[in-house]
Amino acid sequence: MVSGEYLLEMKNVSKRFPGVQALKDVQVNVKPGEVLALMGENGAGKSTLMKCLFGIYKMDQGEIFMSGNPVVIDNPRQALDIGIAMVQQELEQVPHRNVIDNIWLGRYPRKGLLIDDKKMYKDTLQIIELFNMNIDPRAQVNHLSVSTKQMADIVKAVSYNAKIIVLDEPTSSLTEKETVGLFKIIRQLKQEGCGIIYISHKIEEVMNISDRVTVLRDGQWVATENTKDIDSNQLIKLMVNRELGNRFPPKNKVVGETILKVDNLSSVYSPRLQDISFEVRAGEILGIGGLVGAGRTELLECIFGLRTVSEGAVFVHGKDVLKSNRNAKYSGIAMVTEERRETGIFPMMDIRWNTVSSSMEKNRTKAGFISLKKVEKNTQWAVDAMRIKTPTLKTLISSLSGGNQQKVLLGRCLLNQPRILLLDEPTRGIDVGAKYEIYQLMIALAKEGKAVVFVSSEMPELLGVADRILVMSNGRNAGIMDALDCSQEKIMTLAAKYL
Ligand SMILES: Nc1ncnc2c1ncn2[C@@H]1O[C@H](COP(=O)(O)OP(=O)(O)OP(=O)(O)O)[C@@H](O)[C@H]1O
Ligand SMILES: [Mg+2]
Repeated sequence: MVSGEYLLEMKNVSKRFPGVQALKDVQVNVKPGEVLALMGENGAGKSTLMKCLFGIYKMDQGEIFMSGNPVVIDNPRQALDIGIAMVQQELEQVPHRNVIDNIWLGRYPRKGLLIDDKKMYKDTLQIIELFNMNIDPRAQVNHLSVSTKQMADIVKAVSYNAKIIVLDEPTSSLTEKETVGLFKIIRQLKQEGCGIIYISHKIEEVMNISDRVTVLRDGQWVATENTKDIDSNQLIKLMVNRELGNRFPPKNKVVGETILKVDNLSSVYSPRLQDISFEVRAGEILGIGGLVGAGRTELLECIFGLRTVSEGAVFVHGKDVLKSNRNAKYSGIAMVTEERRETGIFPMMDIRWNTVSSSMEKNRTKAGFISLKKVEKNTQWAVDAMRIKTPTLKTLISSLSGGNQQKVLLGRCLLNQPRILLLDEPTRGIDVGAKYEIYQLMIALAKEGKAVVFVSSEMPELLGVADRILVMSNGRNAGIMDALDCSQEKIMTLAAKYL
């Protein structure tokens, strides 16, 4: 094919960070009106390649062509000017401004000297309606849920009328309905001749929406295939370079006494939780399913003591832990939150401090001073246990790939040796191979006699990993099923019970 047929071409792109060759001689191209999926394991270099395209990183080597013409992109402003927009994996929004401001900041439409508020509102609303989205353009961004924030960022990318739109894991926190909405808009954009670069770890989604797939492995180009010519197993094999037989490890069978008991728990803040009761035994994994917004995260937050409970009790080994006004950590509960960027990581710190930050007492000398040696030993343990891909322990956490940041958070949590582990969407943004490792870890923890509770929007994951599944519907417990008697249909039916 002659160059001119491509809307965008990136050739021989190399990029090095201290200690890592993030990209080596990578090529990627996009035709007008197509969706190109970019796939690869955590740390393969997908986001880095796109950040080079968007002018966030400077390539060490490589060329970019738009419609066959060479272009130089030194910053995002230039990228937008030549028609490239990007929704980043880790959202960059101004929390205290509203949705409209976040979309138009720095390029407010003007009427004479004044900002044309009406036009901004109208244009924003138009895109929101086109998407069929449920967003209030005047809402302050930090009051929005993760999924709405992500949607707002997609609106922004569309508002630039770009020819190339890069979506880096756009659906990681969208509901199924929102994902359908997004796919509709992607198809519309295709018809208008846009080229879309789509990054996702969700294989079914990629098979559904993409025309071609480019696979990266360890910073190198591995293959570009027509989506219709390959199946998901072939795609996984290209990504991980080995056959991945089962997607789920065998479950633990031994179950002991009840460790965690939640009794008639209610909370008044929205979404309201009503009368939730369940028990989890030592050695057991309880999955929590339901729709986004059903109160799953809120339930974990109540148990962990982050959220006020209006009625009911949480017992750990028979002891009412909410009454004692305790620190959840000391009653043996640990939690990994869903939104790592806001409630999880310390971006300015390196991996060591991010890993040990909630188990500092373990890193002190007898005299009470912090022991760097212990810090590094514990961090190394987490890096090994979670197979965190990083050049050194002193690397800034913000320079790790998204999936590897998630693993650091899990490692932090495990260092506390909790008896009860609460995990909110633990595999969000994590590649297929690493997902398996996290499942194995969860099951190994159960085998050690811990109680594991995890929230997941992926039904196969609930069925494949949990022993029992509790389904939430509109703030209530819609039912608990043994995973063996459960199915995706049964989960969906229960999820809709109180709507
Ligand atoms: N700013 C940075 N400084 C140093 N190293 C970096 C930086 N950004 C990325 N890296 C490294 O480059 C490699 C590629 O990372 P990248 O974020 O591109 O992966 P990815 O394919 O997007 O992974 P994921 O699926 O987890 O998002 C990783 O080894 C990562 O640690
Ligand atoms: Mg990435």
